[in-house]
Amino acid sequence: MIIGIPKESLIGETRIAVLPDEIKRLSSENLTFIIETGAGTGSFISDEEYSNAGAEIVHDVYSGSDLIVRINPPSNEELSKLKDGTFLVSLLTPFTNHDLIKQLAVKKISSYCLELIPRSTYAQSMDVLSSQATVAGYRAVLNAASHMGKFFPMLMTPAGTIKPATVLIIGVGVAGLQAIATASRLGAKVEAFDVRPAAREQVESLGAKFLYMDLDDAAETDSGYAVEMNEEFIRKEMELLHDAAKRVDAIITTALIFGKKAPILIKDYMVNDMQPGSCIIDLAAENGGNCDLTKPGEIIHHNGVTIDGRLNLPAQIPYHASQMLSKNISKLLTEITEEGKIKFDMENEIIKGCLVTHEGNIVHEMTKNIIEGAK
Ligand code: NAI
Repeated sequence: MIIGIPKESLIGETRIAVLPDEIKRLSSENLTFIIETGAGTGSFISDEEYSNAGAEIVHDVYSGSDLIVRINPPSNEELSKLKDGTFLVSLLTPFTNHDLIKQLAVKKISSYCLELIPRSTYAQSMDVLSSQATVAGYRAVLNAASHMGKFFPMLMTPAGTIKPATVLIIGVGVAGLQAIATASRLGAKVEAFDVRPAAREQVESLGAKFLYMDLDDAAETDSGYAVEMNEEFIRKEMELLHDAAKRVDAIITTALIFGKKAPILIKDYMVNDMQPGSCIIDLAAENGGNCDLTKPGEIIHHNGVTIDGRLNLPAQIPYHASQMLSKNISKLLTEITEEGKIKFDMENEIIKGCLVTHEGNIVHEMTKNIIEGAK
């Protein structure tokens, strides 16, 4: 089977789905790779390194591939190049990108959606959401440090003593935990909040302070995701965050509800009360943002506060983001193939969880229900 890896076309994208090391490993599983010219450049990997790993470098990967492996959902132009009846592994934003999913079904593409890989212990090594959230959480802290007119660590120097910065992390999933760890390593005092009671222990085990509020076990689903909180809870939460916002130097927000728009937790009046020179890094910008002033894709300034809503932070650390993606995706390729061919074992937890379209149908129940409900 021939697997094609195109150059990502999304503006600002620097990552590539599979690195040469994994291509070498997968070649022993009878998988052959073709790579679009220059596809690795954004991650500092040359065509030559891909050739040395056994891949063929081509100008057009679509016409010669049985399976296309990519990171971002294909554009309309790329979709038209996908051959009918072939296979696709990609992020697909299935709950909002309804036209794409319908088109994939019409073209009889069997599509494996990277966002829908089950979040089980077994599937952890294939979990691109977690690996890329780790990168985003780390980068968010570096971006905060570069916006602030202050140091992160406490410094005792002949020119005086510098107080450490205080950083507030809202939402302590994978990105939030990495943000806590990174801000602590840089010497900041870190405070954090999450609606899931389980998050409190994780925050404290990293040496950060958990902001106190009565939490309910029902805030967490069986699979560990947060549920959408009621208006009364969000009102109390915003009071808590408003108090903290007045004191801190940087806020990193990561609060998300699976399959929904991000909750608004920071309103303009709260930003007005923040210290001049402080900043908000809104990692939820991709899903609308946790701050109502956030402009997704932009850095804005409001009353002396920088609000950074830039998207796709993992693309700012391309080499390691690609390396982690490459490990995730190559594990998935091993899971969905056998002796160089795609295997359709619908009892397989991973395949059942992430196969979205197959043989002309939308086969993923939740995606199908959302798309049909939107008609
Ligand atoms: P996420 O990216 O969906 O959400 C980020 C965080 O926002 C979550 O911790 C959530 O509780 C929090 N949040 C939602 N509403 C909030 C609000 N109003 N205020 C403050 N915080 C709010 O979460 P992520 O990183 O995907 O992880 C969620 C959980 O999924 C993990 O804690 C874990 O239990 C589970 N998980 C399991 C994995 C596995 O077993 N392989 C891998 C990754 C996550």
